[in-house]
Amino acid sequence: MRKTCITTLLIAAACEGAPSALAPAGPDAARIASLWWVLATICGSIYVVFAVIALFAMLQRRRSEDPREQSERRSARWVLVAGGVIPAMIVTALVVVTLGALRDLSSDRKARVIIEVHGRLWWWELRYLDERGALLAVSANEMHVPVNERVELRLVSDNVIHSFWVPQLHGKLDLIPGKANVLTLRAARPSQYRGFCAEYCGLQHTHMGLLVVATPRPEFDEWLALQAEPAPVATEPQLTRGRDVFERNCGTCHTVRGTRAQGIEGPDLTHIGGRRTLASVTLPNNPDNLGTWITRAQSIKPGSLMPNVELLEADRLDIVAYLMALR
Ligand code: CUA
Repeated sequence: MRKTCITTLLIAAACEGAPSALAPAGPDAARIASLWWVLATICGSIYVVFAVIALFAMLQRRRSEDPREQSERRSARWVLVAGGVIPAMIVTALVVVTLGALRDLSSDRKARVIIEVHGRLWWWELRYLDERGALLAVSANEMHVPVNERVELRLVSDNVIHSFWVPQLHGKLDLIPGKANVLTLRAARPSQYRGFCAEYCGLQHTHMGLLVVATPRPEFDEWLALQAEPAPVATEPQLTRGRDVFERNCGTCHTVRGTRAQGIEGPDLTHIGGRRTLASVTLPNNPDNLGTWITRAQSIKPGSLMPNVELLEADRLDIVAYLMALR
């Protein structure tokens, strides 16, 4: 567990700054952060003013020998103004600024990049679509987006309710079974941004992480074209052995396009070797972690659908070499 925490910290360190909604890296998150500051300032000021008034009232009462000395009419006016008029004005102001922000954050905007985001137990399936809705590529847990362009996310789930949240890019939005919610976001700078599932969804909710990788358009186009390709053909003996072991042991749950592995329960692994993390941003992707994940997944993500796969040591090495070569 301690090792998992440390590796999660290492992954977070590779991202830009803290994954905080108050460190925005896109116009939508910046709008939310500015709304947060306005609300915090107004509500904080109200708290301070009323704390001072309450303190003042307590001191006054102690000093005054006969409370009836106070003019009742003056008190009634105070109650009306401080308890009715001022709160009504403040609430109206809060409603106006909040509605303004909601209008600015409306998802009713055209985007050239469309990603269908499926909340799974407990990982993210990412299906890149063209403007007519045809499937371009499938990936998992690592969402690449072009920098400074609107990206439309269609959030869906066929199991329980999840919530998509990349604090530096936008607010939270739920993935609700039977309903597609749409979120459009834009990353202003090339970097990596940490995302989370923000709605408790079961045992491994905490390990349902996501990484958004924002790159310049040409780099994004190159990445997307590669993701659309089938897996590179294994030619070296170790890789063909690894592919055979993979097809036998993992092919009913995972797909590697271009092979006999066509399962749909787990993430598509066609280009897993090029991903930065494993198990939804739980571990950095490297041969050691991949080998451990395959044979001891249940000690890393207990309760997940990924079983501990029993393998001979030679098979384990071959399968790891094969998967790491899938770039
Ligand atoms: Cu999915 Cu929490």
